[in-house]
Amino acid sequence: MAQFTLTLTFLSIFMAPIFMSAFVISQPPLNAAEQEYVYKVLESINSDISWRALFPDDLCSTAPHGVICDYFTDDTAAASDPGTPHVTELSFGYVSDYSPNPPCSSNSTLDPSVLAPLSHLKKLFFYKCFTETKTPFPDFSPLSSQTNYSPLEELVFIENPALIGSLDGKISNLTSLRRLVLTGCGVSGGVSNGLGELVNLEQLTLSRNKFNGEISMTIFQNMKKLKVLDLSENGFQGNIPESIGNSTELLKIDLSFNAFSGRIPEVLKGLTSLEFLDLSYNSFRNYGVPLLLGEMPSLREVYLSGNFLGGRIPEIWGNLKGIRGIGLSGVGLVGNIPKSMGVHLRNLCYLGLDNNRLEGVVPEEFGDLEFMSELNLANNSLSGRLPFSAGFLSILGGKLKLEGNLDICIDEGLKSAKVSSSLGELKVCRLTEISSTALFYENSGPRPHASLAFITIGLFVFLNFSKFYSEVEWRNW
Ligand SMILES: *[C@@H]1O[C@H](CO)[C@@H](O)[C@H](O)[C@H]1NC(C)=O
Ligand SMILES: *[C@@H]1O[C@H](CO)[C@@H](O)[C@H](O)[C@H]1NC(C)=O
Ligand SMILES: *[C@@H]1O[C@H](CO)[C@@H](O)[C@H](O)[C@H]1NC(C)=O
Ligand SMILES: *[C@@H]1O[C@H](CO)[C@@H](O)[C@H](O)[C@H]1NC(C)=O
Ligand SMILES: *[C@@H]1O[C@H](CO)[C@@H](O)[C@H](O)[C@H]1NC(C)=O
Repeated sequence: MAQFTLTLTFLSIFMAPIFMSAFVISQPPLNAAEQEYVYKVLESINSDISWRALFPDDLCSTAPHGVICDYFTDDTAAASDPGTPHVTELSFGYVSDYSPNPPCSSNSTLDPSVLAPLSHLKKLFFYKCFTETKTPFPDFSPLSSQTNYSPLEELVFIENPALIGSLDGKISNLTSLRRLVLTGCGVSGGVSNGLGELVNLEQLTLSRNKFNGEISMTIFQNMKKLKVLDLSENGFQGNIPESIGNSTELLKIDLSFNAFSGRIPEVLKGLTSLEFLDLSYNSFRNYGVPLLLGEMPSLREVYLSGNFLGGRIPEIWGNLKGIRGIGLSGVGLVGNIPKSMGVHLRNLCYLGLDNNRLEGVVPEEFGDLEFMSELNLANNSLSGRLPFSAGFLSILGGKLKLEGNLDICIDEGLKSAKVSSSLGELKVCRLTEISSTALFYENSGPRPHASLAFITIGLFVFLNFSKFYSEVEWRNW
């Protein structure tokens, strides 16, 4: 099977350009020096393949998949001038049959001084290229050493665990960078040095590395175009830099699984486009659920789980109608679940309030949240009747988690319908649980002695009530 896949990979690497070449036949060729440097890069990535023998011709006409050229004319050129070809993109590491880039060998290397002569290179992409032989993160400053300018706009390393060392100053000259993606690699150290120079960044993704330390307070000051910031799963510490308030175009912030601490900064509410905020599993402490969330109407998802925020769930939901996901698991919440969550959050698909100390009932309004697909209320002290219909329960199925709430009960009808296995543990509501003002008990099982007291205050009702009346009907009765 592996053999077969490999064959396919090679076929697609080598066949695709043959079809493409028919369309570019009238174009001038890549200059010899640039062609030579492309061979050198290909050889450093995988020396097992004889690149020069397989692709002896113009690499802008017949190249392996992953080598992309473009044609450049200067302002004075005639409209008929086809322009001069230059290599603009190099992508390495077999991704899929749709992106069958040159496969990397286990001893791939990358020397940016070989890339430097590729004067029009805009994108570099590496997928699973540095996986075994430990390779220090390359110093990209040669790319700008001759002209003081590097055209590189995208630098992407995905799943390269053997790529180690720090970023210190190695990319700060790449001032044209729009995307810096370094995910699933072994890069360590801080990000203070020079990253702030990258004022054209739209995406900064450094997730799943070994970065640590505090982030420079001014790092975002001039990153006004930043849209995506993902620093998740590293060892970053300290406060979120206030300068993040200057990156007003941010759509997504993911700082989850780090050791950020202190207060969640107020400046976040100036990020009026922000749709996704994940600060879960950090060390933000004891300031409660931040009220500023209520002033961020563009939010679609917010995850704060695994920080000890404490306090009650605030009433901040009126402006957050668009929100689809909320994670407040294990954040030390006390008190009731506000009805307002069910009233306003009409688009909610996911809500995690598990592993807190919430008490009281599950608001009736939750049963009307038509898009809800996962609701985790496990391990709280919730009580009373679960206000859900059989239809609602069958949509959620196992995605409704209620374990660890000793006093939640369900209606007799739901128990017998067995709509969800997770309800199996729950007891059937006794009539006293239908409403705190109703004085009832079910007729099966031992009657509580307290019922004698109820009788003496003059209310005598002995019906199999749960079977015939819902809570609403009873209240109207
Ligand atoms: C990489 O490994 C191959 C064998 O898989 C070997 O032929 C080649 O010389 C090695 N290249 C380097 C740069 O060590
Ligand atoms: C490149 O970056 C280094 C370190 O940040 C800096 O000292 C140097 O002046 C820069 N060189 C150019 C050509 O911009
Ligand atoms: C935003 O940048 C300006 C300078 O461009 C600075 O004066 C201001 O303090 C910054 N704001 C934040 C929140 O860092
Ligand atoms: C509830 O708590 C128990 C015991 O700590 C734990 O094993 C279980 O995973 C928790 N359930 C959820 C849904 O978090
Ligand atoms: C009360 O409800 C139980 C369970 O549905 C049923 O088995 C029983 O017959 C009912 N009793 C009366 C008096 O209706």
